[in-house]
Amino acid sequence: MNTPCLVEMHGISKRFPGVKANDSVDLRLFAGEIHCLLGENGSGKSTLMTILSGLYKPDAGQLFIHGAPVTFHSPRDAIRAGIGMVHQHFKLVETFTVAQNIVLGDRKLSFVPNMDQVESALADLSRRYKLAIDPKARVWQLSVGERQRVEIVKMLYRGCETLILDEPTAVLTPQETRELFSILREMADQGKAIVVITHKLREVMEIADRVTVLRKGHKVAEYTRGSFSEAQLARAMVGKEIISRIRRQPSNAGEEVLRLEKVAAFNDSGGRLESVSLSVREGEIFGIAGVAGNGQRELAEVISGLRRISQGSIYINGVDMTGSSIRQRISAGISYVPEDRLGTGLVPGLGIVENVILKGYHTPAYSLGPFLKRRDALSKSMELVSKFNIFASSLESPVSMLSGGNLQKLLLAREFSSDPKLIVAVYPVRGLDIGATDAVHRLIIEEKEKGAAVLLISEDLDEVLKLSDRIGVLYEGRLAGPVNREDTDIEELGLMMMGASGEVASGGIGSC
Ligand SMILES: Nc1ncnc2c1ncn2[C@@H]1O[C@H](COP(=O)(O)OP(=O)(O)OP(=O)(O)O)[C@@H](O)[C@H]1O
Ligand SMILES: [Mg+2]
Repeated sequence: MNTPCLVEMHGISKRFPGVKANDSVDLRLFAGEIHCLLGENGSGKSTLMTILSGLYKPDAGQLFIHGAPVTFHSPRDAIRAGIGMVHQHFKLVETFTVAQNIVLGDRKLSFVPNMDQVESALADLSRRYKLAIDPKARVWQLSVGERQRVEIVKMLYRGCETLILDEPTAVLTPQETRELFSILREMADQGKAIVVITHKLREVMEIADRVTVLRKGHKVAEYTRGSFSEAQLARAMVGKEIISRIRRQPSNAGEEVLRLEKVAAFNDSGGRLESVSLSVREGEIFGIAGVAGNGQRELAEVISGLRRISQGSIYINGVDMTGSSIRQRISAGISYVPEDRLGTGLVPGLGIVENVILKGYHTPAYSLGPFLKRRDALSKSMELVSKFNIFASSLESPVSMLSGGNLQKLLLAREFSSDPKLIVAVYPVRGLDIGATDAVHRLIIEEKEKGAAVLLISEDLDEVLKLSDRIGVLYEGRLAGPVNREDTDIEELGLMMMGASGEVASGGIGSC
C-alpha cells in the first residue's frame, strides 16, 4: 500500500487482574482506509483502541504517529496527535446544544467561545462530510443516530485524522447505519483513517478495506479487501468452523400467557404507545420488528411494570396485572432483558454473585429467614458462568469490568434461569459475537420449546424472521399486524416499518 501509514501500534500488551487483554499486538492504520477490528467478546478490541485513544497506558509496546514514536498520557494527548474515539456510550450533556457540546472541554478555547464562529465551523464540517447536523438543537431532542453524529463532528472539529468507532452500529437502525457508512466512506476518501469495531460480518464485507482479527488478546489475522469471506473471518475469530444450528420449529402454541388490550402509555419525550393489543401464547415467539424509538422500550417497560400505562389492560395467564408491581410481575414469571444492560439490567458496581441473585434474593432459593444462603448463591453463579460461557476473572469483582458481550450473557443467564413463563427480550444479541449470538438464539428457542411465551423485540429483521412464529411491527407507537412468519417476508416487514399496516401490506393476512 502506497498511502501513508498514519498510525502504527507495535507489540502492544496490556494486562488486567487475571487477564492479558492485549498480548503483543501490532496494528497499522493507513490514510484513506476503513479498517474493521474484529474478535469475539473479550478478545481485547476495546482495550486496544482505548490505548490508542490515550485513556489506558500499555504495559509494553510502542505507538508511532506518522512514523514518529509517541507516548500518550491522556486522551487530550491523543486528540492533539489526531486520534479521536467515539465510545459506545456517548458522553454528551443532554441539556446543552450540539454546538455547546462540541466545544465543551476543548482546551484550544481559553476564552469564552464565539458561538457564531463555532456554528459556522460546524456548518462547514457538515457540508464537507455530508453530515446533517443542527448546531442549535438540544441533545435530548436527538435520536441515537444523531447523537452519534454529534460525537463524530466533535472529533472532526478537534482535527482528528484517525477516528475510532466502538461498535457504532449496535444502536443504529438499518437506515442510520447506511447513513453512517456513507459518512465514514466520505471521511476515508478525504484522507482519514477510520477504525470500526463490529460484530456484524455483513457490515465488514460491505465497508472494510482492511480487517484485523483479535483472538484472546492476540492478533491472529490481517486481510485486505477482496481477500476474505464471511466464513474466513468467522473462522479466524473463533479458531474453528462455526455452523449455525438454528432451526425454527413450527409453533406448538398453548394457552395464552400475555395479553395486552388497547394499551396506551406516554414516553419521556412526549411520544406514546397507542392502543396496542397483542397476545402471546405458551411455546410461541412473538417478534416485534421496527425502527427503535417507535415505542419498543415503552412496550417492554409497560409489560415489566417499569412504566405506568394511561389506558388499557395487561393480563398474565388470565390474571389482570395492569396495576401490579414489578415484584408481583416477577413472581408471575416475567423475565425481562432490557436494552440498557448496565442500567436497568445489572448493577455495575456489584459482582456476578450479587447480580445473579438481585431479583431473587428474598426468595427461598437464596434466603433462610433474614440470612442469605451465600453458598447456594455462589454455586448458582458458578453454574451459570459455565453454562452460559461467561468469561470472568472473578465472581466477586464488579461486573462493570466484564466485556460488553459477557455482560449481556450474564443478564440472559439470570433471566433465563428462573424458569420464566414469559420472556420479554429487547435487542437480546446487541453487542454479542457470532458464537454468542448463536448461543442466545438457541437458548430463546429452547425456552420456547420448554413452553415459555417469548416477546422478542429486535431491529434486526433477519433475527426476527429467523426466530419468530408471529410478527408485529411497531410504528409511531402503533402495532401493525401481526402476520404469521410463514406468510411474510423481509419486503413486507420493511413496508410495515414505514407505516403500512399488516393487513395492507399482506393483503389481509394479519390477524391477532
Ligand atoms: N478496566 C478493566 N479492568 C479489568 N479487566 C478489564 C478491563 N477492561 C477490560 N478488561 C478485560 O479485558 C479483556 C478484554 O476486554 P475488551 O473490553 O477489550 O474486549 P472486547 O474485545 O472489546 O469485547 P466485546 O466484544 O465484548 O466488547 C476482557 O477479559 C475484559 O474482562
Ligand atoms: Mg468492546
